[in-house]
Amino acid sequence: HAPAHSLLGLPKAELHLHIEGTFEPELVFALAARNGIELPYASVEELRQSYSFDGLVSFLDLYYECMAVLRTERDFYELAMAYYERASAQGVRHAEIFFDPQAHTSRGVSIDTVIDGLSRAAADAHSTLGITGGLIMCFLRDLPVSSAHETLESVAHRVGDLIGVGLDSAEAGFPPSLFAEVYSRAAELGLRLVAHAGEEGPSDYVWEALRLLKVERIDHGVRSLEDSDLVDYLRENRIPLTVCPLSNLRLGGHVAFNALPALIEAGLFVTVNSDDPAYFGGYVGDNFTQIERVFGLSQSKLVELAQNSVVASFAPDSRKQQLL
Ligand code: ADE
Ligand code: ZN
Repeated sequence: HAPAHSLLGLPKAELHLHIEGTFEPELVFALAARNGIELPYASVEELRQSYSFDGLVSFLDLYYECMAVLRTERDFYELAMAYYERASAQGVRHAEIFFDPQAHTSRGVSIDTVIDGLSRAAADAHSTLGITGGLIMCFLRDLPVSSAHETLESVAHRVGDLIGVGLDSAEAGFPPSLFAEVYSRAAELGLRLVAHAGEEGPSDYVWEALRLLKVERIDHGVRSLEDSDLVDYLRENRIPLTVCPLSNLRLGGHVAFNALPALIEAGLFVTVNSDDPAYFGGYVGDNFTQIERVFGLSQSKLVELAQNSVVASFAPDSRKQQLL
């Protein structure tokens, strides 16, 4: 086996990363103090000790609780810069970052505050670290569809600040079909389309995301393995899956974690990503290190996974060529 540091050095694109999921406990405490907010945890250690989840919803409860201390443009900027610095050290050269505007606007933070802070960080990450990419705005699928429509229309005047739209939050009971019109409007605005599907929800949701939302990539998609026709479709159409091994391990246990080698074995277009690294025990390089260690993937397979992330990205071809 090649040493882990060479895995960190592989040029990678991060395609499934919630910026609010990079909120490390130390920064949660620092921003809470700056904003005069009292947290229901006595210390950083006590907060970190609560990071034990029995599924997606139990994680999301803590995720939304922590992000509620983000208030100002500077908060969002500092959150994102901290991410870019860690990601750069693990080989990330291009990052397409999710954010959850409704989780902020519902607390009275304006969407412009959020996008301004994150965009300024993306611009600085480009000039100081050479990281390309941008922002993918996600709709919270467990909120009313009308709220997703309103959120999209509220940024129609600045779609140039976004790469695309995504769909996240609690999956079971919130099928992609609900959001077909929202996605068709996003496409009309020139936005690229992705969606979480088949993480905890059934493989039917992956079909819906492909057929009704017309997404170009599936985020997670691990439950696709339950439908062999779907597996064939994903292989034949080279649909990228943004798989997040440490997330699957922490939220779904070993059954979900073991999807990764099965998806690779099935010949699917798999990428490796970190989802919510502050909560799941590691950034994207750590995900590579773990899958090498646990599944014994060969160096050439790991290089291929890193290259897949570049190919599956929305970077211009000229940028992809630089990174391959
Ligand atoms: N929001 C943040 N992380 C998520 C995940 N893994 N699935 C759905 N929604 C999320
Ligand atoms: Zn996710």
